[in-house]
Amino acid sequence: MKYMTGNEIRKAYLDFFESKKHLKLHSFSLVPEDDPSLLLIGAGMAPLKPYFTGKLVPPSYRVTTSQKCIRTGDIDNVGRTARHHTFFEMLGNFSFGDYFKKEAITWAWEFLTEVLELDKERLYVTVYPDDTEAYDLWHDTVGVPATHISKLEDNFWEIGPGPCGPDSEIYIDLGEERGCGSPTCSVGCDCDRFLEIWNLVFTQYDRTEDGKYNLLAHKNIDTGCGLERLASVVQNKKTNFETDLLYPVIEYAANVSQMEYGADPQKDISLKVIADHTRSVVIMIMDGILPSNEGRGYVLRRTIRRAIRHGRMLGITKPFLDGAVDAVIDIFGDVKDFSELVSKEEYIKRVIRIEEERFAATLVQGIDLLNEEIDTLKANAQQILPGEVGFKLYDTYGFPRELTEEILHENGLKLDDAGFAHDMEKQRNRARSARAENQAVAVPDLSGLDTSALTENAEAHEADVVAIWRDGALVDMLHDGESAGIILSTTPFHAEGGGQVGDAGLLLRDVGRIVIRNTKRLPDGTVYHLAYVEEGQLQRGETVQIQLDEVHKLSSARNHTATHLLQAALQRIVGDHVHQ
Ligand code: SER
Repeated sequence: MKYMTGNEIRKAYLDFFESKKHLKLHSFSLVPEDDPSLLLIGAGMAPLKPYFTGKLVPPSYRVTTSQKCIRTGDIDNVGRTARHHTFFEMLGNFSFGDYFKKEAITWAWEFLTEVLELDKERLYVTVYPDDTEAYDLWHDTVGVPATHISKLEDNFWEIGPGPCGPDSEIYIDLGEERGCGSPTCSVGCDCDRFLEIWNLVFTQYDRTEDGKYNLLAHKNIDTGCGLERLASVVQNKKTNFETDLLYPVIEYAANVSQMEYGADPQKDISLKVIADHTRSVVIMIMDGILPSNEGRGYVLRRTIRRAIRHGRMLGITKPFLDGAVDAVIDIFGDVKDFSELVSKEEYIKRVIRIEEERFAATLVQGIDLLNEEIDTLKANAQQILPGEVGFKLYDTYGFPRELTEEILHENGLKLDDAGFAHDMEKQRNRARSARAENQAVAVPDLSGLDTSALTENAEAHEADVVAIWRDGALVDMLHDGESAGIILSTTPFHAEGGGQVGDAGLLLRDVGRIVIRNTKRLPDGTVYHLAYVEEGQLQRGETVQIQLDEVHKLSSARNHTATHLLQAALQRIVGDHVHQ
C-alpha cells in the first residue's frame, strides 16, 4: 500500500473508471433538482435517479463521479465515532443498463488491489443470501476464499422511493488490535475492526412511493465508496478526522482554542465536530443554500450553530468559523468539483459571519438560563427538565430544542418531551384560534354596497358605520365579544400594504368600545377594519368617534422604514438575492 493524499485518491478513482470507458461528471449540487423526495443529496446515485429509471437518457451509459453528500440523520454521532460525518464525498461508478455484476465486482477489486495496492488478505466481502451470481463471481472469478465471503440478509440498498436492489459490500480488516476482542467478531460486527469501504448495488428495482418494488426495464450498477474512509485506510489513520481531508480544520480549531488534539477525548469531540461541520457548512453555502428556519436552510443553520457551540465548549468566545473557511479552501481549492470555493470565498465567509454573530447572543443567554436550570435540577436530585422550561427557552429565547437536549444529555439529564410537546401544541392552538378569528371576518359578497361616497381622511374624528359583517355574512348589529369586519363612511386609518401593517385604534360610542385591530383594503380599494367589540354593541348606520392608536401608527411607520433600511444594508453586505 502506498501513501496517497485524499485528492490523489479521488483522482485515481475517477481516472481508473475513465480508463474503463466511464464519463467523468462534475459532482452534482447538494440541492436536488426536480426531486421533492430529497432535502439534500445524500448518495452518489441520488442525482442520477432519472438515468436509472429511464426517465432521462444519460450522457453516457457509464458514468463516474465524486459526489458531494450530506447526511444528518446521525448528527449526534459526529465526533464521537471514527467515521460519522454530515458532509462526505462518495466515489461512484454507475452503469445505466450497460455492464452489470461481473464488471462492477472485478473492477472494484482491481482498483483496490492494483491501484491502491491494498493487501488482498485484509479484504472481505458480503453478498445478499440469494445472490449466488455475486457469490460465484467473488469466489470463482476474483478468487476470494470462502472464509472471506459472508452472506448478509441486510445487503439490500435503498434510499426512499426510487432505484434500489441487492448489494455486495467490501470490507477491510484493520487488525485485531482495533477489534472488540469477542470470539465471534467478524465482518458486520459493530466494532472498529472490519471497515466497510465500498458498496456495490445491483440496481434492478424501482421502489414506488407506496412501497412496491417494480423490476426496472434494464439492470444497473450503482457503487458508493466513501472517500474519507478510503483515505483513512490508505493514510493509515485511526479515524477519518486525521486524514488530510479533515485534519487541517482540526488544526485551525485547535490553534484558535489553544487546545491540543489528542490530549482530552471530550475536547477532541468538539474539535472533530467543528472540522466536520465547517466542511458541511462551507459546501452547502457554496451550493447556494442560506441559513433559514426550514428545510435545507435549517439543516445549514443547525449545523452552523452546533459548530459554534462546540467552539464555545473549547473556550472560543469570539466568532471563529469564518476563519475555518480558509482551511477548507486549502483542502479542496484545487479540486475541480470545488472550484467555486475560491470565487465564492468572501461570500461564504460573510454568510457564516452574519449567522455566527446573530447566534452568539441567543447562545450566551440560552446557555446561561439552561445552566441555572441544570444546577437547580441537580441540587434537587432531579433528572428531567420540565417541558415548559424547555419550551420557554425555545419559544421566548430562540434557543434550539436540539441544543437543550444535547446539553442536558451531556449532564446526564433529559427533557420532558411530552411536556414540551404539550406546550408546543398549546401554542399551535393559540395560532389556530387567531387564524379562526381572521376567518370569522371573511369578507362576504359586497357587490350591492354603494362605495362611491366613501372617503379616506387622515383628520377624520367621526364616521358612520356603513357595513358590518361576521362569519362571511352582512349583519346589522354586533355584540360584545364578537369579531367583525367594518366599513366606515370616512376613515383616517391607513390600510395594510407595501410592506407596512395597517393602523389600529378604537371606535367609541356612548356605551361601547370597539377595538380596531387592523385595517385592510378590499380588492376594489375600499378600506375596511378588523374589529372586536370589547364592550357594548355596535349598530349599522350609527355614528362613532374614532381614536387612532398614534403610538401603533408611528411604530409601524418606523418599522416599515427600518425594514427598508435593513434590506438595503443586507443587499449591500450579503448580495442582491436578499428579498423581503
Ligand atoms: N447507493 C449506495 C450507497 O450510497 C452505493 O452508491 O451506499
